[in-house]
Amino acid sequence: MAEIYQSAEDLLVQLKEVANGTLADASGAEPALYWNEDIAASEDANIFRKDWVCPGLAAEIPNQGDYLTYTVAGQPIFCVRDKSGEVKTYSNVCRHRMMQLLEGSGTTSRVVCPYHAWTYDLNGRLIGAGHMEKTNGFNKKEICLPEIRTEIWNGWIYVTLNPDAPSVQEALAPLNEVVSRYGMENYVPVVSENHVWKTNWKLLTENFMEGYHLPVAHKATVGAWFALNETMFPEETFDSFTYQTFAKTGNATYGQAHPDNTTLEAEWRNTSVLPTVFPCHMYVLAPDHLWYLTLRPKGVGEVDIRFGVAIAPEVDAMLSYADERTAWIDELVKFFEHVNTEDRQVVEGIYAGSQSNFAAPGKLSWLEREIHDFQRYLARRLVPNAKENA
Ligand code: FES
Ligand SMILES: [Fe+2]
Repeated sequence: MAEIYQSAEDLLVQLKEVANGTLADASGAEPALYWNEDIAASEDANIFRKDWVCPGLAAEIPNQGDYLTYTVAGQPIFCVRDKSGEVKTYSNVCRHRMMQLLEGSGTTSRVVCPYHAWTYDLNGRLIGAGHMEKTNGFNKKEICLPEIRTEIWNGWIYVTLNPDAPSVQEALAPLNEVVSRYGMENYVPVVSENHVWKTNWKLLTENFMEGYHLPVAHKATVGAWFALNETMFPEETFDSFTYQTFAKTGNATYGQAHPDNTTLEAEWRNTSVLPTVFPCHMYVLAPDHLWYLTLRPKGVGEVDIRFGVAIAPEVDAMLSYADERTAWIDELVKFFEHVNTEDRQVVEGIYAGSQSNFAAPGKLSWLEREIHDFQRYLARRLVPNAKENA
């Protein structure tokens, strides 16, 4: 039976112990790691304020003035395609009286505050502010929205509040060797949705990272598409990400290269890569489509999820008639929404289970290798002297 009370210190000692051991000896995390408020505060300070998070695909804002809003460690931000065609990110808080400027996503030629109409250009510079002529020391040329560090990597937007974080390009260089062959920066986004699930963000991350549950929790959808025993993991472990690869069976509805795809060769034509970029960006990259999740904790017991789907350009090109395109995409999206519903049931179920006094961590399977990678990552970030295991 679990201890009635475990302090954050106790939980971190246990986390470090599992992280220091081998996968064959590893157990899941202590239940309270998922709902202890001090752990959540430490994650905010040491993970979400330090690492890169992903608001979505750059192709979701393809044209000048296209924007999307997001938060990083609770800070409202927006990403926008500026006049030079670059994606930039700014604080989404007005420099007058702190109103949030933009909501959702859309297109605009400038950013107008909905409170008193202070107006900013696409590079965050204040270009209009009425009735300020009697105010001492006001010079609109000196006012600009704070810019947030942004990098585009293989089509993904990454942002961080940390000026010292190593660049994404450097941190993800070994992953580039695996995923760049797919050309995912050319995939065409077809949907992006926001949801809130009642679970801790780490439980959803861990769920994404293991295929062990596929034949069971997903038996109505993707369960039969994979030969679990052939799951491949990289030999090394990496500081900023982990991944696995799966070969799809011949019966899979999605996941094989389109005949017009001439770049993927041999087994790569039916192989999917499933990267998790720590802490909270995960995607299934298949030869014909990708779908992604990007997570933001909402307290300990809820998570904000952005879910998106994009299709390979040759698949998009095949759908030449508008009606046919809409129908095909609707079916694809409905299918992955069904997969998400199956995951929602289990990750909300585990979170509820983690509240039980009888909850206790069980041993991990070799198929849960990435959960151990994630434990090692959490230990590196939350228990600084665990660094020797990096
Ligand atoms: S708060 Fe934005 S214009 Fe006043
Ligand atoms: Fe799943």
